[in-house]
Amino acid sequence: MPREVPAKASAEEALGLVRDAAFVVEGGRVAWVGGAAGAPRCERTVDLDGAVVLPGLVDCHTHLVYAGDRTRDFELRCAGASYAEIARRGGGIRLTVRETRAASVDTLVALARPRLERLLAHGCTTVEIKSGYGLSVAAELRQLEAVRQLADLGPVRVVATCLGAHVIPDEYAADRAGWIRALTQELLPAVVARGLARFADVFCDTGAYTLAEAREILEAARALGLGLRVHGEQLSHTGVAELAAELGATSVDHCEHVDAAGVAALAAAGTVAVLLPGASIFLGDAARPPTRALVDAGVPVALATDSNPGSSPTTHPWLMVTLGCAWYGLAPHEALRGVTANAARALARDDGTGALVPGGPADFAVCDVPGWRHLAYGFGDAPVRATWIGGERAYARPDPR
Ligand code: NIG
Ligand code: FE
Repeated sequence: MPREVPAKASAEEALGLVRDAAFVVEGGRVAWVGGAAGAPRCERTVDLDGAVVLPGLVDCHTHLVYAGDRTRDFELRCAGASYAEIARRGGGIRLTVRETRAASVDTLVALARPRLERLLAHGCTTVEIKSGYGLSVAAELRQLEAVRQLADLGPVRVVATCLGAHVIPDEYAADRAGWIRALTQELLPAVVARGLARFADVFCDTGAYTLAEAREILEAARALGLGLRVHGEQLSHTGVAELAAELGATSVDHCEHVDAAGVAALAAAGTVAVLLPGASIFLGDAARPPTRALVDAGVPVALATDSNPGSSPTTHPWLMVTLGCAWYGLAPHEALRGVTANAARALARDDGTGALVPGGPADFAVCDVPGWRHLAYGFGDAPVRATWIGGERAYARPDPR
C-alpha cells in the first residue's frame, strides 16, 4: 500500500494492490515486496495460500482503558433519553470517570487487555489509547500508567494520548480555569517528564471545552513537545478544525459538523480527518461528516473504532470500514486506507506503519475473503485469519475443527 496516492489513481492503484504477491521479512521489517515470480530466495517461506494480505490495521482513536460500563445509559437512550439528559441524570462520561478513579492500575490493565486482544484478532497491530476518564492529575497519570503497562506487555504497538481535557471534572465545575491551570501546569508537564504520552487531545464541543480553552490547552501541550489531536466538530460546529490546522495538530476526530472553511484548513495543513461512524450510529446521531468534500479537497481521511464505554463500545474495526462506506460514503479502497496508511498518519507514524513497504515494520493481517472489496462489504464479518507483528505471528484464528 503506497504512502501517497497519485492523482487519478484507480482503486487498486490507490491501494498498491499486487496480485500473486510475495514479500520478504528480515529482522522484523519488510525487506522486499513484489510479484511472487520475482521474489528472492529465502531460508524459510510461509505460504499464505491465496489470502488477501494488508498492512496491520492501525486503530488511531480509542479509549480502551476504563472501568465499569454504560449499559444503564444505553437502556435510557433506547427509551428516548438524549446524551445530555443522561449526563444530567448521573450517567455519561462522568459515570465512567467515577468508576475508573475507583479502580487500581492492575484492574485497569486487566480490563483493557481483552479489548486489545480483540483488536489484535481483527488485525490491529498499532492502537492508540487515550486517558480522559481520570480527570485529576493523579487519576490521569494512573490511567496513562495502565496504558504504558499494556504497551510493555505487547505484542500490539500502543501509542498513548493524554485526554485530560475530555470534560471539566465535577470538582472544578465552578472553576474551569483552575482545572485548565492544573492540566497545563501540572498534568501535562508530568506526562512529558515521565514519557507517558506522545499526544495531547482536547474535546472541544458543547458541554466540553470552548474554542478559547482548547487553544490555551493545545498551545501549552505543543510548547511541551507533545503532538496534538482534537475531538471536534462532533455535536456542534465550533471552528476547532481551523484551530487544529493552525497549530499543526495531526488530526481532528469526529468531524460531523466541520464546514467548508474547516475542510479547506485541514486540506491546506495536511491534517487528518478521523471519522468515527461507530459513535454517531451508536448515539443515533443522524449528522454525517462531509465525507466527499473532505476526500475531494485532499484531506487524508482515517477511520477508527473510538472504542469507549459510552458512545462506541466496540472493538470491531471492520464494522467501521463497512459503515465508513455504507453510511459515510467512502469507497472501499478509501476505507481500507483509512484504517491503515491514513490512520498511521493521524499518529504521525512515518516509519512505514500502515503501508507494508520495504524498510517498514512487518506488521500485517492475513484475511480470508474472496476479494479485497469483501473486507468492506462483509457487514460484521471477521475476515482475519492471522495477525503478524514485527515478522512474528501474534494471533492465529483457532481451527474450527
Ligand atoms: O469520542 N466525544 C467525546 N468523547 C468520547 C465519548 C466518551 C464517553 O461517552 O465515555 C467519544 O465519543
Ligand atoms: Fe473519542
